[in-house]
Amino acid sequence: MLTDLQDLNLAKQPLERNTEQLGERIRLLLKEKNAILLTHIYQRLEIQRVSDYVADSLALSRLASKTDAEVIVFCGVHFMAETAKLLSPQKTVLLPDLASGCPMADMITAKDLVNFKKDNPDAPVVCYINSSAAVKAESDICCTSTNAVDIVRSIPGDRVIFVPDKGLGSWVQREVLDKQIIIYDGFCPTHYQITTNEVHRLRKAHPEAVIIAHPECDPSVWELADFVGSTSQIYKFAEECPQEEVIVLSEHGLIRRMQADMPQKKFLMTFPNPLCPNMKYHRLESVINALENMVHEINIPEYGVANGLFERAQRTIQKMFEITEAKYSRNYWLGARQEGFSVMSIA
Ligand code: 13P
Ligand code: SF4
Repeated sequence: MLTDLQDLNLAKQPLERNTEQLGERIRLLLKEKNAILLTHIYQRLEIQRVSDYVADSLALSRLASKTDAEVIVFCGVHFMAETAKLLSPQKTVLLPDLASGCPMADMITAKDLVNFKKDNPDAPVVCYINSSAAVKAESDICCTSTNAVDIVRSIPGDRVIFVPDKGLGSWVQREVLDKQIIIYDGFCPTHYQITTNEVHRLRKAHPEAVIIAHPECDPSVWELADFVGSTSQIYKFAEECPQEEVIVLSEHGLIRRMQADMPQKKFLMTFPNPLCPNMKYHRLESVINALENMVHEINIPEYGVANGLFERAQRTIQKMFEITEAKYSRNYWLGARQEGFSVMSIA
């Protein structure tokens, strides 16, 4: 059987694939190795279907910190697996395809941040979770797109450095008027593909539709939306809004999943479809390979432990949980090993 997105990575897969059998093999291996499969909602549906949990980056890091499994197989991008390792240092964390990075996270190094701080002394640093462990270690507190506004509001003083995403940083600035947000120049190449022209075209063609956007879009794009929110907030809004037509200014995989879960609605996206190629590297075969051979392990010491990097990065994430855990304690989906894509829990 062929799967969705079969056009990607053709060279990496045989043309005929039995996804049912591959999925069964994964479930068996997970049991054998006392492993859990955590998957970001931008991943291919074939992986979502065999996962233990599907979630956004906030819920995935919480799940990684709470699991009893000895091995975490992480189908997301590199910084997500690294965050899981920081939160569960005693566990083995596997990233099935090591090519799966995040170009936005790669736009800032620890050295870049140290220099940026020199230009803006005394301002505390909030880093988006889309950043390396080394950048987290140079930051005061971490955030995700779900809790960024709450995190920045919780910080005393009237100036805050926000790295690396200028889309999300600008959204926070719009919501938090009593602080000056000093924003780094990073961005998400996938969300920045979405243009205002395309949004106007869709609005004109579908005047009854509601428009919802991820804050990683260019501010000129999210300004045109009726609602701006993180992945789980977009999902929840789409589920609860009365409109049948929903224009989503975010990543293709999320929109595919929402369309599968809510067939009574019509989801529309901009052209070209904003697809994050980095999120599509993992395949059923690479999950099997990682588990069978226990390869593609994520380790933080690659960056050096001498300066306490591990502990400092860990603390940056833990501080985020201390501030927002009560408010955002549940937003994940069960992987749909059972029938359909049932939503389990959204905060
Ligand atoms: P979420 O925090 O909404 O899961 O987003 C992560 C991400 O990389 C979006 O591009
Ligand atoms: Fe990174 Fe953007 Fe892909 Fe998210 S969608 S992983 S921010 S490149």
